[in-house]
Amino acid sequence: GKRTPFIAGNWKMNLDHLQAVAFTQKLAWSLKDAKHDPADAEVAVFPPFTDIRSVQTLIAADNLPIAYGAQDVSAHDSGAYTGEVSGAFLAKLECAYVIIGHSERRTLHGETDADVNAKVLAAHRHGIVPVLCVGETAEDLEAHGPSAVPVAQLRAALENVEGAKGLVIAYEPVWAIGSGQAATPQQAEQVCEALRGVLRDLFGDEVAGETRVLYGGSVKAANIASFLREPNVDGALVGGASLDIDEFSSIVRFKK
Ligand code: G3H
Repeated sequence: GKRTPFIAGNWKMNLDHLQAVAFTQKLAWSLKDAKHDPADAEVAVFPPFTDIRSVQTLIAADNLPIAYGAQDVSAHDSGAYTGEVSGAFLAKLECAYVIIGHSERRTLHGETDADVNAKVLAAHRHGIVPVLCVGETAEDLEAHGPSAVPVAQLRAALENVEGAKGLVIAYEPVWAIGSGQAATPQQAEQVCEALRGVLRDLFGDEVAGETRVLYGGSVKAANIASFLREPNVDGALVGGASLDIDEFSSIVRFKK
């Protein structure tokens, strides 16, 4: 197909830069052992900011088939924004991707749809592909059904955005994150299909057809294949299971 499956490990606030190097090296060995073909799946890791330089150096030194990115980016490019990290800096570290709008940023740090939109525009200014996260809470699901909130979040996040600059979408139902209670493949497919419909509406068939839409929320080795069998699910954003080398290695070796 024209959408290469994307398997992304979001480490969240885990692994310091030394642990990150050790983990990335193990992942590289595992991919080599498996004779991993990058055409079968693109593998990416999302370490904390403080690890990125070390991960970059390791990956570049051995030309490892592992992409990487940051877990967040500032909406601003430079200036008096204490604690923020510019997309310009991430671009200098050759980050291909950046996670934007993760539910933990929205819930714990009060990020609004407008903030998420500004961050998507910032990533694009620096040539970095957003991994744009949307997803409903259990209460949203009860009140509005499965697709309404993720679709509204996606539309808001994409205001004034040019699809041609590249996007990855991640559907992460908040109730499935870290809960051990993954969505069913059918639930994931239904929402991912609706999200692709938004892309079609905003950017046309070609962009909608080539944009990867991921599922995230309690993905593990035992359920990855069931998600990837769905026509509109193009990969996974993996949290907890991305920190266990055996589990993550099994996930990237998924067989449909
Ligand atoms: O970004 C990853 C998601 O929040 C999923 O986390 O795999 O631990 O449920 P989880």
